[in-house]
Amino acid sequence: MASDTQGTGSFYITTPIYYVNDRPHIGHSYCTIAADTLARYHRLRGASVLLATGTDEHGQKIARAAAERGMSPQAFTDEIVEHFKLMWERLHISHDRFIRTSEAGHCHAVQVVFEKLKANGDIYLGEYEGWYCVPCETYFPEAELVEGKCPDCGRPAEQITQPAYFFRTSKYTDRLLRYIEEHPHFLLPEFRCNEVLAFLESGLRDACVSRARTNWDIPVLSDDTQSIYVWFDALINYLTVAGYPDDTAKLDTWWPPQVQLVGKDILPRFHATLWPAMLMALELPLPETIFGHGWWVTDTGEKISKSKGAIIDPYDEIRTLVSISGCTTAVAVDAMRYFLLREVTFGLDGSYSTEALLARFNADLANDLGNLLNRTLPLVERYLEGQVPEPGPGAGGLAEQIAAARSQTETALEALDFRTALEAIWTLIAATNKFIDTREPWRLHKEGKRVELAAVLYDVLDCLRVAAILINPVMPMVSQEIWSQLGLEEQEPAWEDCEAGRLVAGTTIARGEPLFPRIDLQRAQQRLLVAQQAEAGAEQEGSAQMISFEQFQKMDLRTGRVLEVEQVPGTDRLYKMTVDIGEQQPRQMVAGLAQHFSPDELIDRMVVVVANLEPATIRGVESNGMILAAGEEVPLALVTLDRDCEPGQKVR
Ligand code: MSP
Repeated sequence: MASDTQGTGSFYITTPIYYVNDRPHIGHSYCTIAADTLARYHRLRGASVLLATGTDEHGQKIARAAAERGMSPQAFTDEIVEHFKLMWERLHISHDRFIRTSEAGHCHAVQVVFEKLKANGDIYLGEYEGWYCVPCETYFPEAELVEGKCPDCGRPAEQITQPAYFFRTSKYTDRLLRYIEEHPHFLLPEFRCNEVLAFLESGLRDACVSRARTNWDIPVLSDDTQSIYVWFDALINYLTVAGYPDDTAKLDTWWPPQVQLVGKDILPRFHATLWPAMLMALELPLPETIFGHGWWVTDTGEKISKSKGAIIDPYDEIRTLVSISGCTTAVAVDAMRYFLLREVTFGLDGSYSTEALLARFNADLANDLGNLLNRTLPLVERYLEGQVPEPGPGAGGLAEQIAAARSQTETALEALDFRTALEAIWTLIAATNKFIDTREPWRLHKEGKRVELAAVLYDVLDCLRVAAILINPVMPMVSQEIWSQLGLEEQEPAWEDCEAGRLVAGTTIARGEPLFPRIDLQRAQQRLLVAQQAEAGAEQEGSAQMISFEQFQKMDLRTGRVLEVEQVPGTDRLYKMTVDIGEQQPRQMVAGLAQHFSPDELIDRMVVVVANLEPATIRGVESNGMILAAGEEVPLALVTLDRDCEPGQKVR
């Protein structure tokens, strides 16, 4: 349970720091929006808030991604970091700190932690023997591999043996088990906590926390052969943000975090075990709550991440929503924030689809919230000269609903249950819509019941005001817009004003355009279908460059031994070669290797040959196959075999 700061304390909340080998997608955005919502909620309650997010930049994975782009890791990360910053700006994320692990201050903090734990014996030198998954930056004992592959991502793991430093996680197993049992809100949701307990009960192995020195990881200060393992480095970001190690006053203010949000994949192995054990070793208090949220998959069940193909860019989705509904971008951003937190219980997995986003937009935003605003303000203009009336003696008809919505929203947000919080707010909105239907202000007007009419409209406007505050953490822009349409621009919204009767009579409303234009779902569906077809068409065109596996299989690649080499008369470039490819007769081939390889460098070499290439006559010499070599313009290197094998073996 997130500590209830009641407006007096400080509230430190973190997201994971994201790898920069990828552009931000809906999975990253989900967690960051959830963290932003809690940060905004606690700010509204008057707490001082530190919302931190950032990027995890070291490690082989990043170095490789940079190399693939022909860039230095620093230049590469500098570029990708901007995508994250832009995405957070677009999604109205109000982070107070964006930390990059390549910052000097962070490297210093990591080195201090490492040396401190090395000095007290919690980090020791050993020998790492085992398996490493490069894409996941994770070491695995053999028993955890699945058919030799990484249990997390399914890609092949690499076997390695090397001297390395280890952190004595094992020493902290029992203490951690006790801590978890005594602090029921430490690991949430409960079912994930149980998974962690099961993982812990099988005992923790010491964690390998260094690797042979690389040029893109934080060096171990006291050993120039070693660099610090990227996960050890990454976890410490939470301490760096809070001022560790040098700014003790800052650390006193912010440590420990009240809430740390992470995805379910990085909970058991890292945030729920290695991380608390590191803090225990440093004799620092543990975070109050670490929450493992679920994953978004596509509606066909695919994972949403670069490695698995299906990327969903939330901003593309927001643009689609703008173009289909005609709402403003600010409203569409808030609609996306609302959708992600309302559609699925935080902690569980959910499947994402544009259709589901549009359906929620219509049902909850246009029909419920938008409709309440759009039907109320014209009545106030028409019957009350656009001014908030006096409450009147019959007022307060919705006070109970307001109190219930507020307290349920608070309880739910303290428990990080965004869905229930939003349901509570929507119950109030539905009750207010129903209140209008049953009290029929138009009838009261007709019957000349001015006092009663004023009381009803006051209650409705007051509910709209409360709803605007309650939705503020999730939909800050929509909240602001409703706030100004109610004529409250001069006033700062505060959580404590979620109480019936605080709307000041005499306020002049300022009706604006409808925020949520209703979508014709059938037409929208057709548009989406056409767009999908166009996209599929473009993909198909793009794949004209590709060959299918069947096409590849048609190629007869075989091993061959070069038997004879001689220059093709009258050419500088061409050799006539005979190559044994395991058939009765050696093959004759013509190859453009003469300017780069002497006959001696070729004779007896094992090469790879395309055996079913159409025969051709080149400079009068028949060629029955092609010898493979690397190099675009000229042959730079032969494709040879790294072990002995017979000529005629299939190459696949
Ligand atoms: N760099 C590490 C975290 C270090 S924290 C000290 C990392 N980065 S990540 O970029 O791969 O993932 C960051 C977060 O995004 C994780 O919490 C992960 O669960 C989350 N998500 C990635 N794809 C996701 C979905 N499809 N859905 C929801 N969250 C997902 O791990």
